[in-house]
Amino acid sequence: QIPSLKEVFKTDFHIGAAVNPKTLKSSKELLDYHFSSITAENVMKFEVIHPKKDTYDFTQADLLADYARKNDKKMRGHTLVWHNQTPNWVFENTNKEKVLSMMKQHIFKIVERYKDVVHAWDVVNEAIDDKAETFYRKSPWLDLAGEEFIEKAFLFAHEADPQATLFYNDYNACDPVKSEKIYQLVKRLKEKGVPIHGIGMQAHWNIYDPSIDEIRAAIKKYVSLGVEIHITEMDVSVFEFEDKRTDLTQPTEEMISMQQKRYREFFDIFKEYKEHIGSVTFWGIADDYTWLDDFPQKGRKNWPFLFDDKQQPKEVFFHII
Ligand code: XIL
Repeated sequence: QIPSLKEVFKTDFHIGAAVNPKTLKSSKELLDYHFSSITAENVMKFEVIHPKKDTYDFTQADLLADYARKNDKKMRGHTLVWHNQTPNWVFENTNKEKVLSMMKQHIFKIVERYKDVVHAWDVVNEAIDDKAETFYRKSPWLDLAGEEFIEKAFLFAHEADPQATLFYNDYNACDPVKSEKIYQLVKRLKEKGVPIHGIGMQAHWNIYDPSIDEIRAAIKKYVSLGVEIHITEMDVSVFEFEDKRTDLTQPTEEMISMQQKRYREFFDIFKEYKEHIGSVTFWGIADDYTWLDDFPQKGRKNWPFLFDDKQQPKEVFFHII
């Protein structure tokens, strides 16, 4: 029997995985044994859980929540307010006041339902622009309600469950320009007394980027705000983002060894900041299924995890252990 990830890191942070109803079954053994936390990859998102104005569909989210309840796993809620995977009806024939009251209803309905099992919510996802020139990312929420949509989302979530830890979650969170903006946003919110308790750093990283120095600098900056950090959405692509190659049927030797080195360095940093990092969540479980398989390059297979496409531990697993 190989060591269990969640046991190995027990005194450091929770080890999580993004799941969906399908991988809950197909990766059940790995999930049961190695992970202490789950996040819904898609089924708690607006388009799935609240597809029409007066229709909520909790079927799939309930499946995951029940798994967490019965198997004593932590659950992160993902995500309440985002520009993606949100149906058009939300933004049609509305105005600031109406869209905010609809947002409140949405947040209350979902947060209250999963109160007993979801301890942390990604309240607002990806609201900051990557570039220096524009602060916020373009989004219908911003267009309709202005920047206030962010604080409102946190206030509503806190009202719905005062016990939950509330996160702002984003990618490129180690980029010097973007991390400064994330820092400024969270600082402003905290100064205003908005209930925000954490920053989720989506770790969609690769074998080249970001550098360890950038990661350390970002973590330090966030920690100085006195918030908790969750490493969310971790996958370590073996390709550079822009790499267009679709012909590989397995990673090269070089990719494999670089991935091992990188994962090891990442976990060394996480351990260094373990007092502040509550969880490290992979955006999937094993290489047989990852959203990166077609992203951003259609037809490009990827191998971003610790377990291979037969759900066996890769060598990188033992590097981390
Ligand atoms: C992705 C899912 O993994 C895919 O299955 C889906 O098609 C698109 O969304 N940032 C996030 C996640 O916050 O919700 C995204 O998940 C990946 C990028």
